[in-house]
Amino acid sequence: MEIELKTQYWDNPKARNAFKAFILKIHGLDFTEWESRGYWDNAYTPFSYFKDGQVIASVCIYLLDAVIANRKTKLVQISGVGTHKEWRRQGLSRELTNLGLRWARGQHDGVFLFADDEAIPYYKHCGFSPLDETLEYCHAEPVPKKQGIIPLDPSNQSDLDKIYRYAKNRTPISNKLSVFSSKLLMFHALYTMRNKIYEIPDLECLVFFDREGGLVNVYDILGRTIPSFEQVYPYLASELDNRINFHFHTDNLGIKGIKTEITTGNNTFVKESFPISTPAFPYTSRA
Ligand SMILES: CC(C)(COP(=O)(O)OP(=O)(O)OC[C@H]1O[C@@H](n2cnc3c(N)ncnc32)[C@H](O)[C@@H]1OP(=O)(O)O)[C@@H](O)C(=O)NCCC(=O)NCCS
Repeated sequence: MEIELKTQYWDNPKARNAFKAFILKIHGLDFTEWESRGYWDNAYTPFSYFKDGQVIASVCIYLLDAVIANRKTKLVQISGVGTHKEWRRQGLSRELTNLGLRWARGQHDGVFLFADDEAIPYYKHCGFSPLDETLEYCHAEPVPKKQGIIPLDPSNQSDLDKIYRYAKNRTPISNKLSVFSSKLLMFHALYTMRNKIYEIPDLECLVFFDREGGLVNVYDILGRTIPSFEQVYPYLASELDNRINFHFHTDNLGIKGIKTEITTGNNTFVKESFPISTPAFPYTSRA
């Protein structure tokens, strides 16, 4: 039996299950919860080769709403990339990528991805270029702590529904660069941010953050309006804090004394020209 190309097959349960099994095998990632909670995203478009009902190679083209320099646009993120071991080095992954990008042509302003370490030589070989990113940070100044920050638990359906409401009604975190999709955000709520989601009812916002010793990592802030960080920080503050890293551009947070450093740590790659240099991709934009 020949290998068969399939795309846009999410409404075919057998093919979709084969894709899930493939992602579990290649990336160790189980999409079941994202799917069963109803957040599977049709903007996430697969280009896959099948043989005997199994996926042997696949690339997903995620067409994402974005804001760049105050302008609404779309960006493509390439993700879910893999080829089964016995099918590697035969050009399948590159072919699928080219097919996907041809399909998406004219619908977006740029293509980006975050590479696993082991895939860096492959992306370089296929004409992708590494892109430096900016990390914005500030020093934590002691402030009187405020009460009223509530951890949310995505295992609890009413908390999950609340997170989704915030995700759907959010204002872009940055006018320099925001990439957003409420369903991708729910992926992060369920997988990467599970224990890092807090509501500040007084400010009608959610903050995704964690703390490693004196370092506070802020991954996202969701609200109909974005409060200033001066308003937010007293709810998070601890006496031990000395530095706060923001995993997005902070232009909407009104931080005095924001500092920046260049980082390559996300293995960010782009294809051809990308509309913004040294961006800070929001952490929650990663697929
Ligand atoms: C990375 C991966 C998807 C490549 O798939 P593939 O189907 O073997 O890639 P292709 O055959 O289309 O490769 C295209 C070109 O890149 C080259 N290439 C592939 N893997 C390479 C590697 N690891 N190092 C250097 N070159 C590589 C191929 O030889 C081919 O070159 P050619 O045009 O000179 O013949 C596959 O190795 C894989 O699934 N790895 C594990 C999962 C992973 O890392 N996924 C990416 C996550 S971001």
